Amino acid sequence: MSLTYESPGRAALHLARAASLAPSLHNSQPWFFAEEGHDHGFEVHTSDRQRMMLTDPGGREAVIACGAALFNVRIAVGRLGFRPVVDLLPEPGNSAFLAHVGYAAHVPATPDEALMARAMPRRRTHRGPFGPDPVPDTLLDELRDHARAEGAVLQVVDEPEKLRLVTDLVRIAENAHRADPDRNAELTRCVGPYGIPAEACRHHPDHTLLAGRDYLGVARPSARRPRRWTRRTGTVAVLSTHCDGRQDWLRSGQALQRVLLYAAAHHVMAAFHTQPLELPVLRAELRTHLTGGRFPQVILCLGRTTRTWSTPRRPPVELLVRDGDPAR
Ligand SMILES: Cc1cc2nc3c(=O)[nH]c(=O)nc-3n(C[C@H](O)[C@H](O)[C@H](O)COP(=O)(O)O)c2cc1C
Repeated sequence: MSLTYESPGRAALHLARAASLAPSLHNSQPWFFAEEGHDHGFEVHTSDRQRMMLTDPGGREAVIACGAALFNVRIAVGRLGFRPVVDLLPEPGNSAFLAHVGYAAHVPATPDEALMARAMPRRRTHRGPFGPDPVPDTLLDELRDHARAEGAVLQVVDEPEKLRLVTDLVRIAENAHRADPDRNAELTRCVGPYGIPAEACRHHPDHTLLAGRDYLGVARPSARRPRRWTRRTGTVAVLSTHCDGRQDWLRSGQALQRVLLYAAAHHVMAAFHTQPLELPVLRAELRTHLTGGRFPQVILCLGRTTRTWSTPRRPPVELLVRDGDPAR
């Protein structure tokens, strides 16, 4: 039985389109949406069908992606002229129903919200070396404030010892992933016209200080060392939260997207290096030695770049269901 809308409301389509522009692990798009009644509200659900079962068995990264989609919905509701009212995990027995967004009285969007709305279609994940210009300290301060406003901490990793720790743990995790044929198969399935386009992975994954995911399998068969652009790695930053439940993952996702959109509005893009957070021992090391006991949720490199590739999304009409159907 298909529960997709035959004629979804225009507001619901607008919100689903905005939500679907969020980043997700390997472009898995682990979400679906429901319009509550006619213009009564909008629901964000996570879908196990799209989850990366080997890379993200507990669903943490899927919920972070849905949190990012939720932030886009909040911004898009503002564009419709309403204040979004968000209820996280509104149905205690249904952990896949992540958020309900209601529409409250009209308030004009703030200048920052308008800026982020315009940046939404321009934000892209970067992979490979960045341009030579550093991210200004004033912008990094603003990004920290944006993360804090969503209940997360954005920590810039600039001390050499801590940078070495992050670099080493990303490398150890990436090497472990490359040696695992099942994970490699999961990764390879994500590349293509409906996943991550091969052009978006054109740089060798070992071009930067922090190892990238080897989406195309170019680093696995040989020990050939590519040219490394250490200085072009960008500014390394770790997003963390005080606790580590579903609410915190949703908060992380909203903080992540707020940081990414504000950065994109200032011509700064992000590369993700989340590999060590997928291996509990390495994640615990980061928690102990880097984030002061907070739970690391996302590792990013921020920088300026002249070239990015767009990654396709499923059409919004396919993402909308009449009622939240847990089977999707
Ligand atoms: C929780 C999370 C983890 C991610 N981890 C990685 C990663 O390790 N390497 C990478 O290249 N991209 C990573 N990404 C980015 C996705 O690959 C990217 O969002 C997706 O391909 C869609 O492309 P876009 O962000 O350009 O729209 C991650 C995204 C999220 C939300």
